[in-house]
Amino acid sequence: MKLKIAVLSGDGIGPEIMEQGVKIMNAIAEKFDHQVEYNEAICGAHAIDEVGDPFPEATFKACKDADAVLFAAVGDPKFDNDPTAKVRPEQGLLAMRKKLGLFANIRPVQTFKCLVHKSPLKDELVDGADFICIRELTGGMYFGEKYQDNDKAYDTDLYTRPEIVRILKVGFEYARKRNHHLTVVDKANVLASSRLWRQIAKEMEPQYSDVNVDYMFVDNASMRMISEPKFFDVMVTENTFGDILTDEGSCISGSMGLLPSASTGESTPVFEPVHGSWPQAKGQNIANPIAQILSVAMMLEYFDLKEEGALIRKAVNASLDENVRTPEIQIEGGAKYGTREVGSWIENYIKNN
Ligand code: IPM
Ligand code: MN
Repeated sequence: MKLKIAVLSGDGIGPEIMEQGVKIMNAIAEKFDHQVEYNEAICGAHAIDEVGDPFPEATFKACKDADAVLFAAVGDPKFDNDPTAKVRPEQGLLAMRKKLGLFANIRPVQTFKCLVHKSPLKDELVDGADFICIRELTGGMYFGEKYQDNDKAYDTDLYTRPEIVRILKVGFEYARKRNHHLTVVDKANVLASSRLWRQIAKEMEPQYSDVNVDYMFVDNASMRMISEPKFFDVMVTENTFGDILTDEGSCISGSMGLLPSASTGESTPVFEPVHGSWPQAKGQNIANPIAQILSVAMMLEYFDLKEEGALIRKAVNASLDENVRTPEIQIEGGAKYGTREVGSWIENYIKNN
């Protein structure tokens, strides 16, 4: 297969983990005889520094021209500490989502048997937990009409029927591919937008009679996620709820550095770790590259390259089992591997298996 990949490394630890992701992609390409062409483009804080725009036109074009975007992370404390900054790295991420029409954000919450003890939750709750959160990504309060003056401010939680239908469809179809259980998360007891979501989901139910659907208020869902994470198979929710719930979900596995995500929609899909740019760790070779590496697996699986994806997952599991781990998940007294060393170990495993 021929693949054209736009590589957006971003800020902080982004370039270091991306280097590992690309290394793994190359190992897979060589082994399975795929031709990969990379096109690097700037985004985030360093794009603001260079050209004054966190998602410049040239980067948008590189994304449009590619089959897939491999993204690392953006963000820099110099912007976080300045509430008056006019342009922010995060705006680049939002612009990318909107311009590429990436309305469906797929965030798997997967646990690793050997890391169950790292979770803040009790082992028996975590062991075997495995669900997917599907977050609507281009609507709701993030993009609805906004207003702010000194005395009043609002954000509008606007959703239209087509926006709701297309994301629910993704939810139903994922449930169909998995354990046929879909949880629609909303706040229909208070919010009009949620009531429309629920109404439309109910209208769609008969088309997916093989899927068991339940409806859960978001406050209850946030509790259920930590009291009984194994309850969930696929959950689907609007943008803001999904943002909050997926951070909660990412810590269940024991480290934020483990979980990948995919954003798909109308144009080129984007594959990226769930975690951020961790600026404090930049250049220290301590960041966990696994979320980035598993993002490569998700990308391959998106193109139906199942065997390739499975080999990456097998290699990642083997590295964890062999204690080839970055410091935040290493066992007491275990050797602490760096970002590069974990990447190289996984690369070698792929080459030799
Ligand atoms: C995420 C992030 C972004 C979001 C920020 C950086 C704009 O938190 O991808 O979850 O809120 O969507
Ligand atoms: Mn978030």
